[in-house]
Amino acid sequence: MTHEPDTDTNEPTGDDAPAVEQALPDGGAAGADDVALDPWGSSTVSDYRKLFEEFGIEQFDEVLDEVPDPHYLMRRGVIFGHRDYRAVAEAMRNDEPWAALSGFMPTGDPHIGHKMVFDEIIWHQQQGGDAYALIADLEAHSARGLTWDEIDEHTRDYILSLLALGFDPEAGDLYRQSTNREVQNLAFELGIEANFSEFQAIYGFDGETDVSHMESVVTQMADILYPQLDEPKPTVIPVGPDQDPHMRFARDLSTRMRFFKVTDAFASFELTDTERELVAIAYDHREEYAEDPDQPRCGEAGEWLADYETSATEARNGAVEKLDNAGKEPLRPRTRFLDRNATDEAFDALVEEIDGEKRRYEAHVDAFDLDHAAAEELARQVEVDHGGYGFIPPSSIYHRFMTGLTGGKMSSSIPASHISLLDDPEEGYDKVKAATTGGRETAEEQREKGGKADECPVYELYAYLLSGDDDEFAKEVYEECVGGDRLCGGCKEQAAELMEQFLEDHQAKREEWEAKLDELDFEFDSDRKRASGD
Ligand code: TRP
Ligand code: SF4
Repeated sequence: MTHEPDTDTNEPTGDDAPAVEQALPDGGAAGADDVALDPWGSSTVSDYRKLFEEFGIEQFDEVLDEVPDPHYLMRRGVIFGHRDYRAVAEAMRNDEPWAALSGFMPTGDPHIGHKMVFDEIIWHQQQGGDAYALIADLEAHSARGLTWDEIDEHTRDYILSLLALGFDPEAGDLYRQSTNREVQNLAFELGIEANFSEFQAIYGFDGETDVSHMESVVTQMADILYPQLDEPKPTVIPVGPDQDPHMRFARDLSTRMRFFKVTDAFASFELTDTERELVAIAYDHREEYAEDPDQPRCGEAGEWLADYETSATEARNGAVEKLDNAGKEPLRPRTRFLDRNATDEAFDALVEEIDGEKRRYEAHVDAFDLDHAAAEELARQVEVDHGGYGFIPPSSIYHRFMTGLTGGKMSSSIPASHISLLDDPEEGYDKVKAATTGGRETAEEQREKGGKADECPVYELYAYLLSGDDDEFAKEVYEECVGGDRLCGGCKEQAAELMEQFLEDHQAKREEWEAKLDELDFEFDSDRKRASGD
């Protein structure tokens, strides 16, 4: 299978520190390795910069201040990126409806990497969001070939750990893909907007790809939009960056389902985004060229724009041509509603409900007294009133992958590289004791130069998990390490004990929940026949 745009994945990070590293003021652990944004491949990331520059993920740092009481993974830069999280933070602050959802493929034991995502869902639930956790059993069956028996066993374990970590099943929603009819119905509808060429381009699917694997993709799209089925609301999907192709696709599909597209326009004709920016500049300079600046003409603006210096010459020429063709038509900013999938009634109703001056065309209507935000709201309202979904593009947050305890990537197929939430506490202790560190050759050298906490999987354990909410403690470990006051033997002993304790507590809570599982509205046993793949 070929991967999505990002192909040269093994580029070394180099010395010029990735932007992300700057998001780790308290010495949060630096992730390693390389990035391939492949949801079914191996997921490690070396060059977080690329995620920002090529894929348009934004730095989490920039929204951190807008989050009322940020989670420690946010404060420590472990959650390093986002798409549109602002919308969620705003709803959080204003006590408006919002949701958080994530999903888990039940392919093995839940481990400390999953714990991060469990914690993210739980934290969002505690902040007042509608919280959803789903088991991606259809995906595990179709994309990974697990049998239903295996899936059922793991499903139970994921749910138990999620509950043990604090998910409130009464306030939130738990489901598995295979039994959620509404999700499957939505997946079917979304599948009408998706075609095979896109699957090829985004996921590298080809003629050999199972149809059910493709179906699991639209199912995930439906998972992501499921919290909005009753009413549109900002929704955050906490995931690893490997899931970003899914996020982009879901955001795209969510807009394709909409009745109307709201854009800004200046005259009757359509502009591309860059052309629009240039025409906006021309509009702002109308005093310089318009015979009557209160009513500049397209032709006049076109003449002015033709001499405007920009590197976007193609867009400029395009805009100039359109302006010239429009000649004497007034150049006047307006908000435009394009009819995308609306019924005639919905379009009529929209036109009816626009306040102030408006002009109706065959497939769009222009409003002169509505700002963009108000127009978006109106478009969504009319859509919902006429039986549409009115989806808000889903937001996402991305966390760093933990480095494996043995160095390299944390992988479920290498038991020593990770700690399963089901490991015996003593085993957890032993794995931490056996972990690679960022320590120096000798104690003497360590005292002199300090340890390399930024490259130490043990420090990561402290930052991602063992310090919990206690920033002071995480910082102390970091500073003692890099200052040469902390030696690896003792440091690992402390971490190992904390890990043992954590596993003991966690497993005790799992047992408590085990006794109450029957009370949950959740089907733990799949009643499916064995198929050829099993
Ligand atoms: N594809 C995800 C994984 O591999 C699982 C998943 C299914 C998911 N549906 C989702 C994740 C919705 C986030 C949101 O782990
Ligand atoms: Fe890692 Fe601790 Fe050693 Fe520092 S002292 S390198 S944090 S094990």
